[in-house]
Amino acid sequence: MDTIEAIMTTRAMRRYSDRPVEQADIETCLRAAQQAPSGGNVQPQQYVVVQDPAKRAALGELYRTAFDRYERSLPEPSTFADERQAAAWRRTRDASRHLADHLGDVPVIVVFLQPLIPWSPSDEEGPMDIGRLDASVYPAVQNFCVAARALGLGTALTTVIRIHTAEVLALLGAPEGRYEVAALTPLGYPTGNFGIAPRKPAAAVTHWDSWGDKRR
Ligand SMILES: Cc1cc2nc3c(=O)[nH]c(=O)nc-3n(C[C@H](O)[C@H](O)[C@H](O)COP(=O)(O)O)c2cc1C
Repeated sequence: MDTIEAIMTTRAMRRYSDRPVEQADIETCLRAAQQAPSGGNVQPQQYVVVQDPAKRAALGELYRTAFDRYERSLPEPSTFADERQAAAWRRTRDASRHLADHLGDVPVIVVFLQPLIPWSPSDEEGPMDIGRLDASVYPAVQNFCVAARALGLGTALTTVIRIHTAEVLALLGAPEGRYEVAALTPLGYPTGNFGIAPRKPAAAVTHWDSWGDKRR
């Protein structure tokens, strides 16, 4: 598949069939993730690929309870002034609810972990802001998602599971207190179609040479 088309049609897929995923395809996505850039080429991420049905069910249950709590904090679509925005928000919320109720049934769940390590070099002038460690993990997550898309597989980058980080680490047997969850994505064949998701036009948020100089 053409690279630009794969990138343009990679979006949150939240409804999956139970068609199994080939091991070779999972490994291709992981190799693509590993090619992502990272600060100082430190490559901080670890992947836990969960296929075991009991573990998927337990992870799905943790995700569901995290989402239940998060969902209660979300605005009601009826509070939106713009009806089109309200409809879009309702669709996202309903799809997110569906994923929360069925995550454990998706054939593969990948948990991206990042280490809890100091990430702020310092010198005699003090600590230096060189960006956050997450910035060295999310490129790998997105590479994974784009590679999956190119293979016809759906993903959805999610983070709400962080509400239950301790329980997730325990379930996965990850060393206690040494990692945090950067992201979790289901991996499987979607029941819906891939397509280009609605976004602001690039021109609306691009400044050429100076802030405010937008060419349309
Ligand atoms: C940092 C981050 C965290 C996210 N967390 C969740 C999540 O916990 N649950 C979920 O269903 N979607 C989550 N999403 C997916 C977004 O809701 C999704 O990217 C957005 O709605 C756009 O979807 P689209 O690409 O299908 O248009 C997350 C996305 C990002 C980048």
